[in-house]
Amino acid sequence: MDRVQIFDTTLRDGEQSPGISLNAAEKLEIAQQLARLGVDVIEAGFPIASPGDFEAVQAIARGVDGPVIAGLARAHAADVEAAFGAVRDSQRPRIHTFISTSDIHITHQLMATREDVKAQARAAVAHARSFVEDVEFSPMDATRADLDFTAEVCAIAIEEGATVVNIPDTVGYTTPEEYAAFLRGLYERVPALAGVTLSVHCHDDLGLAVANSYAGVQVGARQVECAINGIGERAGNAALEEVVMLLATRGDVAGVTTGVNTREIARTSRLVSRLTGYPVQPNKAVVGRNAFAHESGIHQDGVLKERSTYEIMDATTVGLEGNDIVLGKHSGRHALRQALEELGFTVTGAALNTAFQRFKEIADKKKQVTAMDLEALVTDELREEMATFALEWFDVEASSRRPPHATVAVTTPEGETVEGSFTGDGPVDAIFHAINTATGVDARLREFRVDAVTGGQDALGEVSVVLELEGQSASGQGVATDILEAAGRAYVRALSNAVRKVRAAEAGADPRAADAAVTPTP
Ligand code: KIV
Ligand code: ZN
Repeated sequence: MDRVQIFDTTLRDGEQSPGISLNAAEKLEIAQQLARLGVDVIEAGFPIASPGDFEAVQAIARGVDGPVIAGLARAHAADVEAAFGAVRDSQRPRIHTFISTSDIHITHQLMATREDVKAQARAAVAHARSFVEDVEFSPMDATRADLDFTAEVCAIAIEEGATVVNIPDTVGYTTPEEYAAFLRGLYERVPALAGVTLSVHCHDDLGLAVANSYAGVQVGARQVECAINGIGERAGNAALEEVVMLLATRGDVAGVTTGVNTREIARTSRLVSRLTGYPVQPNKAVVGRNAFAHESGIHQDGVLKERSTYEIMDATTVGLEGNDIVLGKHSGRHALRQALEELGFTVTGAALNTAFQRFKEIADKKKQVTAMDLEALVTDELREEMATFALEWFDVEASSRRPPHATVAVTTPEGETVEGSFTGDGPVDAIFHAINTATGVDARLREFRVDAVTGGQDALGEVSVVLELEGQSASGQGVATDILEAAGRAYVRALSNAVRKVRAAEAGADPRAADAAVTPTP
């Protein structure tokens, strides 16, 4: 079977989703997981956009082996040079350059002419080819553009050495039949297209991103651009997990395969959700909490008798077996280490002791410690190591008759223990303000979210907060069986990140590069 290349744009188009702002360390953590997932190309960012973006792409190019590492560039010499600077240390660098071919964009956004677009596309691809052998070209908004003109621009790009031609449905406007016809039209008009890789890049504004991408594959596209959990501009990009599982499950009609290790899908989805703060809807295809759950009696009955009655995929195939019991209260250090290794974490020495201590605390409160619990717990410990402030303890007096009052003790970056108290509107508010009082840092809460790591009454809670300090916003996460404890941990970690960013900004450095995140596996 033919192989379709999976081009992951979680860190570029995905990162352009409203409200997402990943720091360099978080991007590296995601890129490492994408490499484990087995994607073919990682679009690591848009290097000209900011020094932070440049550094993140460079760190990925230097630190992630396996996939091609691509940097995005408008069809401008400076963009192409920045993209090259960022990806040049990768073993397999790619420059992805783009310019719009639709008249709407040419007239209203570029304020240029079709002739200008042709000249810019030619120059950008030629410039990129002078640096790297692997160059991708995208005629932006192609699906609303004139087919003949787009074909002319693609032919120019190929003439100048483009190795991949990507046809974006930038505003998610096309339909499967129309998109397939457009791509066929390009093949007819540009004979050289048969000699390069045709790629599809579809947005989900009308909910057709995966269907359109599949239509593209059916007419010859051999690269699909997609993002984990379908994140991306506006309604997002085609969801990687859906594209991959569609091709894996319906290989009989698709006739193509991917190189993705599907068992890493669920973990990658959870990591991206955790770091971006974008929850995965429960009924989301492939990775939603309910994607393999059966509620109706008839369905449950059928699945118990024979799984294939109502399931077209096996949850273990996508790594969604995290709710299996892996350890219990009496499990020892060795069992914990083995379980962590199976999850991809190598934890030894002092880190193993700390993980074991946390595991025991949790196992005392929770009957069954699952793989997902362990993953959340270890990630939480690693976050603790990165944080400069740490929550030592907290007390909350809460009642329906009086406003809640909290007292906290926090360890400062200097190793001092400081205490603070506050009477707030609710227990979480009281804890957060008490932390501000203790540390003398006047941060403002912007976002607060609680999720359960697994199902069940004794589930671990995961809290994400975003706060703002002197114009810098920073996020933090915390995990515990007690939501208030998780909230306190998340807040002090966000505070650590915020203070680091403020100091970096004062020192004239790029604050985004000063954010901290964890890299769970070596
Ligand atoms: O949607 C789009 O057109 C893009 C291009 C930069 C490929 O993201
Ligand atoms: Zn896009």
